Parts: sequence; C-alpha cells; structure tokens
Amino acid sequence: MPENNMDKPKIVTCTAPVNIAVVKYWGKRNEELILPINSSLSVTLHQDQLKTTTTVATSRSFQEDRIWLNGKEEDITHPRLQSCLREIRRLARKRRNDGDPSVDSTGLSHKVHICSVNNFPTAAGLASSAAGFACLVYTLARVFGVEGELSGIARQGSGSACRSMYGGFVQWIMGDKDDGKDSLAQQVEPQTHWPELRILVLVASAERKPVGSTSGMQTSVQTSCLLKHRAQSVVPERMVEMIDAVRRKDFPAFAELTMKDSNQFHATCLDTYPPIFYLSSVSHQVISLVHRYNKHYGETRVAYTFDAGPNAVIFTLEQHVSEIVQVVQHFFPPDTNGEDFIKGLPVSRAPLSEEL
Ligand code: DP6
Repeated sequence: MPENNMDKPKIVTCTAPVNIAVVKYWGKRNEELILPINSSLSVTLHQDQLKTTTTVATSRSFQEDRIWLNGKEEDITHPRLQSCLREIRRLARKRRNDGDPSVDSTGLSHKVHICSVNNFPTAAGLASSAAGFACLVYTLARVFGVEGELSGIARQGSGSACRSMYGGFVQWIMGDKDDGKDSLAQQVEPQTHWPELRILVLVASAERKPVGSTSGMQTSVQTSCLLKHRAQSVVPERMVEMIDAVRRKDFPAFAELTMKDSNQFHATCLDTYPPIFYLSSVSHQVISLVHRYNKHYGETRVAYTFDAGPNAVIFTLEQHVSEIVQVVQHFFPPDTNGEDFIKGLPVSRAPLSEEL
C-alpha cells in the first residue's frame, strides 16, 4: 500500500526534571484552577537524576486519547489530564486562527496516545506529579506546535508542576486574579547562577505516601489555623528573604530559611485535624544529624527539606559533599535501608528538553 503521510503518527519525546520546594506550596484557594494560598520557590534538579520521560503520539487512526503511566494504562478522563489536554488544544487552535505557521493544523483534530515513565518512585513524596505534568504539557505543546508561557497550563495538572517548566531557581507567584491568569512560574535565577550548590536525595522509603498532597492540603486549609497564619504572615516575607539569599548565594541564609520552611510545613500537617504524618523516625534522625553537623562546625553547611513523604532532600555546597556523604553512610549504612540510602547527587541545572 502506498504510504500516506497523513496516516503516519507524529511522535515527540521530552523529559522534565523534578523540582524541590524550599518555600513550600500547601493549600489552594481554587481547587479546579489550582490556585495556591501562598507563593512558593523551588530548585529544579538536573534532569539526568530524577526525571519523567513522556512520549506523545498523534495519528489520524487513533480513536481516542489514551495514557499509560509507568507501563500501566490510566484513566484519561481524570479532570486534571483533561484540563491540560483541553488548554493545549485551545492554545493551538487560537494560534492557528491567529495565523501562526508552526501550529500543525491537520494534527489538531487527531487523538493522542501518551506514554510517561519516571526514573524514581512515583507518589513517594519525590515530586513525581510535578515532573509528570510539566513533561506532559511541554510534550503536548511540541506535538501541537505551541510555544510561549505554559506554566499556567502545567499548574492545572499539579500545582508544583508549574515550577518544573523552568530550570534553576523558580518562584510560583500566587497571583490574585480569580481566573488564575497571573498565577504563573517565573525563573528567579538560571541554573548557572550557583554552580557550587549540590542536592542529595536520601530515600528513606519508596512507598506511596498514605495521604496525597491534594487531599492533605484540602484538610489543612479546612482545619489548620497555623496554615492560615503561615500563608498570610510568614510566606510573603520569607519569599523576599529567600530570593535575596539565592541572589546573594548566601548558603547559611538559604539553608536556614529552607529548614524553617520545611519544619513549618510539617508543623501545619500536625496542626491539621486529623493530623497528617509525613515524616518518619528516619526523617527525624536526618534532621537531628544535620543540626548536630552544623553545630559541630559552628556554621550552617547543610540543610534538609521534606515534602509530603519521609525522604530527605539535602542541600550543601560542593566542597562539603564527600564528607556529608560519608557521615550519612556512617549513620545510615546501606544494609539498614535495603539499598543505598543516597540516591545520587543531582545538581540544579537543566530545564526541559526535547529528546527526539
Ligand atoms: C509538599 O503540587 O503535588 O511538595 O497541586 O494538589 O497536585 P497538587 O499538589 P502538589 O503539592 C506539592 C506539595 C509539596 C510542596 C511543594 O512542592 O511546594
């Protein structure tokens, strides 16, 4: 049969890295649009370390949109997936109507097949949804020929995903519009700004977290007065201080703010009713070890932060990495945790990239 180009699937593969918040997002003011109650700030990891890889194919012969996550087919009708698909297609249609030649108008009506894999445990509090939705939105945009600001669409997949659309140090400005048009991610400093900064991921557990971020933060918004206080009176000032510390590459200031913010986030989880426990006894041991280590040297050389799970993310400067790895390995030898406790040394670097 003669090959018809129209029937050939168009295939694009991209990768997106995880981001680690140092000023945490916790709580929404609008569930559907995913609008937060406070701004947040994160560091994007090097995508060779913790990343999602997504392939999107479109073809005239596809009957329906479908998605596979880590090899298993998932429900494409999930509202957040639908929001991302709808918004990308809407943007593509708008651009085509505005006469943008890069928009593939024949493919616009085609269905998509999406295949996404993580190279790290999914839903274990290692920001898998952030990399996942950032990658999905970016790959769909490439398929449909859409360019420009996409963090507002990634945000509608998962709040923290908007920050994975950029490399380096990224803030998610909460915005105040009801339609969310001003609730976007913005790069504060590029990946090249602070090359000495290092990140260690200490995997205490690769199991799925018992309370997901989405429902956890809903309960916190409903029940925690500490969260209200944090969003209104702590985070606005902390964002200014954190951006200043990053710009000045002031590690002790950055580290102290990071640890305080992680601690306050987990305090709001405890203040939630019923309380949410994300930290384990291993997490508590890591916290104590970091404070003991800093006290020993009389300066802040290392910081921890924990998201919605027990795994620690450690920040330090390059010159201290080998000693810290040794100290961690001494107190948490590989056999007590099944496998290696330290899962690589990702550096804050690359933004999204297209692989094929
Ligand atoms: C603790 O972005 O996963 O990691 O918007 O409901 O998908 P949804 O939540 P999600 O929450 C992340 C929470 C956090 C802190 C952070 O990354 O800022």
